[in-house]
Amino acid sequence: MAMQRWALADVSHVLIDQQTLADRVRELGEAISRDYEGREIRAVAVLKGAVIFLADLSRYLSVPVSFDFMAITSYGHSTETSGVVRIIKDLDESIEDRHVLIVEDIVDTGLTLKYLLEILETRQPASLRVCTLLDKAGRRRAPVPIHYRGFSIPNEFVVGYGLDRAGLYRNVPYIFVVREDAADGEAARGGGR
Ligand code: PRP
Repeated sequence: MAMQRWALADVSHVLIDQQTLADRVRELGEAISRDYEGREIRAVAVLKGAVIFLADLSRYLSVPVSFDFMAITSYGHSTETSGVVRIIKDLDESIEDRHVLIVEDIVDTGLTLKYLLEILETRQPASLRVCTLLDKAGRRRAPVPIHYRGFSIPNEFVVGYGLDRAGLYRNVPYIFVVREDAADGEAARGGGR
């Protein structure tokens, strides 16, 4: 049983369980499919956290969809985005005249997304929207538009379903809050949101 298998030492409590995630991801997929009827979506995800969400969400999209990926790194402190971002891997394809949907696992300070929106906007997509699974609005430092939001979450250290702790736990099928004593040392190691 999945929950048993993932009875992890770092878990404080489960914030969003597997069924709740699945239900909400399906709702988002259906809403996006309705809104984009007659159009083709270019889903753009930022590696690595958004990959799990994109994989599940895309299976509920009933309109044509293609994928592209970016990898970026932020300078400065490891658990908080500095806002100064460098592209490590750019998109493979042009997005000009495409209906671009940015798919994120979490919007935290909003600085990554703000930067991304600025860059992609200059490439003249037909439209540009944002879908994020998690919204930690209490931490926002840059106002960013969110068109599709899975869950608003409190300012807690969350891991699982794409989100990592020191590179691990992205494959955990639910979202959990990390135990406070485990989270304390996190800034030194990197990862986690
Ligand atoms: C996460 C997430 C967003 C960003 C959001 O990625 O996927 O891209 O942080 O944070 P912000 O709103 O404060 O800018 P992360 O840097 O943890 O990389 P990862 O996806 O490879 O884990």
